[in-house]
Amino acid sequence: MAVLLSTKASAMEAWRDALLALDPGLEIRLFPDAGDPAEIEAAVVWTSHDMAELRRYPNLRLIVSMGAGVDHLLRPPGPPPGIPVARLVDQRLTQGMSEWVLLNVLRFHRQDPEYRALQAARRWHELPAPETAARRIGILGRGELGADAARHLVALGFPVMGWSRRPKQQEGVEGFHGPEGLDAMLRRTDILVCLLPLTPDTRSVVNARTLGLLPRGSFLVNGARGGHVVQPDLLTALESGQIAGAALDVVEPEPLPPDHPFWSHPAVALTPHAASITIPESATPQVVENLRRAREGRELINLVDFSAGY
Ligand code: GLV
Repeated sequence: MAVLLSTKASAMEAWRDALLALDPGLEIRLFPDAGDPAEIEAAVVWTSHDMAELRRYPNLRLIVSMGAGVDHLLRPPGPPPGIPVARLVDQRLTQGMSEWVLLNVLRFHRQDPEYRALQAARRWHELPAPETAARRIGILGRGELGADAARHLVALGFPVMGWSRRPKQQEGVEGFHGPEGLDAMLRRTDILVCLLPLTPDTRSVVNARTLGLLPRGSFLVNGARGGHVVQPDLLTALESGQIAGAALDVVEPEPLPPDHPFWSHPAVALTPHAASITIPESATPQVVENLRRAREGRELINLVDFSAGY
């Protein structure tokens, strides 16, 4: 039996080598060279892989997403019915995202855009000192990524709030949940960090209404998915000064078209979906573990909950 690997060409060999280093007995096929479809027992795929294509493999028993987010895998037609999907829960992936969140929270908190503009104007001018304890951070999403970012922000001394569908507890984090909780948190948020999974419920959660609930001059940091933000609404809020700055690692569509206003907007800091990149050596142990469990008929780890959408 064989494992089908499908990701961007530049990453394919690194994934194969990392899997073989853990289990030299694995038979790995690099998509599109799948060989005999009946021999494929598991597919380890990046989110761009066409789910309809996976219906070709009659003996498939496990799909593994090479990322934390699985929204692309779940949208129609979705994975072949009855086949479990595992996602990555990876410390290096989580660490990468927390670093990116801290970079951008601190960028706005420490007035970096203003200081860069002053530098460009050759002006030696000190701005009022920002106060950490007065800068309220609201995090949308309290999963692996949201909880880790919250922990780091609490350690720096920021007042941190977190919003999720259902109530959750975390030391030092004030919790909000459900629709009323969202509005209540937004009214008190100076820097809004989005680390939600993208589901039909969370699509467009950052829109004219919710941006309007934030105190004037707030900031947005989105490391989740472009689909969480209604981009024209964000542009309007940036133009009016309701939102003072946005750091966006994700947009819709990706890549961002060359004529999109975000590219040259002075209040937008863009990164090309690079906040946190999966490192095969770090991610493959859980993949090999799941392959073993699938073969032995044991319970799988990091399974996607189809009803929740993540
Ligand atoms: C990247 O975006 C991921 O979902 O891991």
